[in-house]
Amino acid sequence: MEKITSLAKRRGFIFQSSEIYGGIQGFWDYGPLGTELKRNIKAEWWKSMVYGREDVVGIDASIIMNPEVWKASGHLEAFTDPLVECKICHQRIRADNEEEISGHEKSHKDKKVEWTEAKSFNLMTEVFLGVTEPKLKAYLRGEITQGVFVNFSNVVSSNRVKIPFGIAQIGKAFRNEITPGNLTFRSREFEQMELEYFVKPEDAESKKTFEYFKNLRMDWYTGLGINKDKLRFHDHADDERAHYAKYATDIQYDAPFGWSEFEGIHHRGDWDLGRHKLTYKDPDTNENFTPWVIETSGGVDRAALFFLIDSYKEDEKRIYLALHPKIAPYKAAIFPLLANKPDLVEKARKIYENLKKSFVVTFDDRGNIGKRYFAQDEIGTPYCITVDFQSLEDNMVTVRDRDTATQARIGIDKLEGYINSKLEQ
Ligand code: GAP
Repeated sequence: MEKITSLAKRRGFIFQSSEIYGGIQGFWDYGPLGTELKRNIKAEWWKSMVYGREDVVGIDASIIMNPEVWKASGHLEAFTDPLVECKICHQRIRADNEEEISGHEKSHKDKKVEWTEAKSFNLMTEVFLGVTEPKLKAYLRGEITQGVFVNFSNVVSSNRVKIPFGIAQIGKAFRNEITPGNLTFRSREFEQMELEYFVKPEDAESKKTFEYFKNLRMDWYTGLGINKDKLRFHDHADDERAHYAKYATDIQYDAPFGWSEFEGIHHRGDWDLGRHKLTYKDPDTNENFTPWVIETSGGVDRAALFFLIDSYKEDEKRIYLALHPKIAPYKAAIFPLLANKPDLVEKARKIYENLKKSFVVTFDDRGNIGKRYFAQDEIGTPYCITVDFQSLEDNMVTVRDRDTATQARIGIDKLEGYINSKLEQ
């Protein structure tokens, strides 16, 4: 984890928020490369969950909503974490997190740790609106989800959607986490990417849909290169489930700090639409009913963190991030072999300008080639393209593969097709 944290800062993936003022716990900023990584993750998710399907549409709801939403959804009452307090150092820890509890007990070495009774703390973040008293107390959304439910009837009446169908959304959520930590893993401000999929209220069908989405989401992570052996499903026991869930399964990753939730797949039944008193009229049968909801809810920040952790590789010569080309910040880096040879620089810049129209690429002419490879490996650039003296004669360049460090000669006119073919794999 220390290596990832240090690389994330050194190479501009993740910075502490307001660092020059000492930071603020649970908040993070993404640097230039982290921003690209996150944008790529979100774009791939949207492609897979919205553009790639006929039965899903997207929305973008507001972060602050009428506070009545949160009363109806049960969040004001039940969106809580049970916390216990260590009687030695008064640190509060989630009562349901056995790993953190035992880690904390070990940190006190020989002393026997006693804990207070578990107390519930609400996670909603309050904000006050208006300029005159009394101000309106509202909330930063604790999950992006409610924005979808309160727009359910708007979407049905304004689009040609018919059950079964889904509404997708990506956006920021906020939780007053008492114990933020492990870099961005548990933050107070984070992004979610969610699908709410509406089905008929039928046990067997909804169970099938739940299983289908569980597998679809697992395949999405492995398809983007996450090591299969580091992923597993974890079914929630009765006392783990959120207040809205009939049943739930997490996709977990074997992180350096233990098996940890990547994404939650929830069967929310009719909890939300029922609470908001929203129903659906079947256009074929005229039957009126409250649909059930199967939800896939992933964290963008957790995905970015686990992609970084999973792709981090070291060998005797170098550190590299074996990121899938689809999510790597740069798809290629273009170099002139020597920076002081105008012919080489001009040709390399031309290639760069051309590839820039189709991909996010970078140009580098500092230091020697070895150093440039090292710098690109560390940020996960899958291909380094070098223009040498031979290139001036034959219009071919050397393309070096990040993971194998092997090199191939490729025609300049074939580069775009070459990168595209790798992105499709
Ligand atoms: N709408 C359902 C929902 O919000 P959740 O399991 O509470 O379900 C879904 O959250 C995902 O959001 C998690 O799997 C995780 O990836 C991300 N997430 C939740 N809390 C987070 C936090 N404090 N920091 C970063 N990501 C978080």
